[in-house]
Amino acid sequence: MAQKITPDLVKKRMAGERVSLVGGAGFIGHNLALALRQIGVEVQIVDNLMQNNMLANVSDMDIDDFRRQLNHNFLVQRFEMMRNAGVVMDNADARSMTDLAETLKRFQPTKIVHLSAISSAVDAKKVPGHCFDLQLVTLRNVLEFTRLFPNEVNEVVFMSSSTVYGDFETETVDENVRPRPYGIYANAKFMGERLIRTYHDQYGLGITIIRPSALYGERCISRRVSQVFIENALMGKPLLLEGGGDGRLDFTYIEDLVDGIIRSMAATAGAGSSNTFNITFGNARTILELANVVKSVVPNAILEERPRDVIKPIRGTLSTERAREHLNFVPNWPLEVGYKRYCEWYVDQWERTRHRMEFN
Ligand SMILES: NC(=O)c1ccc[n+]([C@@H]2O[C@H](COP(=O)([O-])OP(=O)(O)OC[C@H]3O[C@@H](n4cnc5c(N)ncnc54)[C@H](O)[C@@H]3O)[C@@H](O)[C@H]2O)c1
Repeated sequence: MAQKITPDLVKKRMAGERVSLVGGAGFIGHNLALALRQIGVEVQIVDNLMQNNMLANVSDMDIDDFRRQLNHNFLVQRFEMMRNAGVVMDNADARSMTDLAETLKRFQPTKIVHLSAISSAVDAKKVPGHCFDLQLVTLRNVLEFTRLFPNEVNEVVFMSSSTVYGDFETETVDENVRPRPYGIYANAKFMGERLIRTYHDQYGLGITIIRPSALYGERCISRRVSQVFIENALMGKPLLLEGGGDGRLDFTYIEDLVDGIIRSMAATAGAGSSNTFNITFGNARTILELANVVKSVVPNAILEERPRDVIKPIRGTLSTERAREHLNFVPNWPLEVGYKRYCEWYVDQWERTRHRMEFN
């Protein structure tokens, strides 16, 4: 019988591992890098800062100066925290095999986590070719690097998405449900899953596929509903509730996801093994419930109902039963605790930025 995955076992099994995070300066990547450093793992991030990061933030014409500065502060915090934690930070474009291979060769990873993407389905739809390149050309390069140096890398982790399931036909979906992805983002994720499984089947790569959902947490600049709601509340703008806010998502706090990813790495049998896990909170909540948490932190937040958008995807709960069974994964952060903590942090950051800008 497999050993139960406990924090001590995670630490023991991860000792001596060297983990490269491709697209690692992003929201998930920098949090994962920090958590890995906390258990003593050597970490490298490889990122060209182009998407949802420094370069995008300076050139984004759609946001005002205040929120550009707020995002900038979050990004600087990421880099300062990583530098202080001893994370190796390399600037390279993973679409270039030469640049990526050179950067990885320097660090000599034993595990590689692939995160680079346009991480928003809405944004990806606007630039499908770019979506393809950032998700799949970069993944191809990671897989080829791993195939060419099979004795060095024991596992590739691919950050897929709950969107591969498409519209949920049942209240809860588990990993055995046949994916029916819709749109360029979800289909590129599914193609990525097929590609990495093919490298496992044909070249014996150790692989893990993670399917997260609706993440929120400190220093995220992705402008998903969890960030838009708290910002709107702080700007006196309404929190729009389509169809009364009855749409449901499996909102997940970043700490739960990071915990699940690290457990999956510790549980892997290395080269030749293959696993797919839903890593979410495991209980879909409504948009209205999300808005109510904002209201508990910003009492004058305005909640406003709107007619439902007919083409909104139908989502729900991702079962985390497999992760519980194999990884002893138990999420710790329900919405009323995790999202509230995030909203309070956001209010504090908002005030600090305003103060700093007023006195500059
Ligand atoms: N955040 C979520 O809710 C969520 C949910 C499901 C899946 N995912 C997936 O997880 C992964 C990470 O998500 P995130 O929220 O951290 O996204 P993010 O946008 O914050 O980070 C992505 C990072 O990839 C980098 N990148 C893009 N193209 C690159 C390239 N060619 N070379 C090097 N770096 C490059 C970007 O600069 C950015 O720092 C993505 O693949 C995303 O699709 C995220």
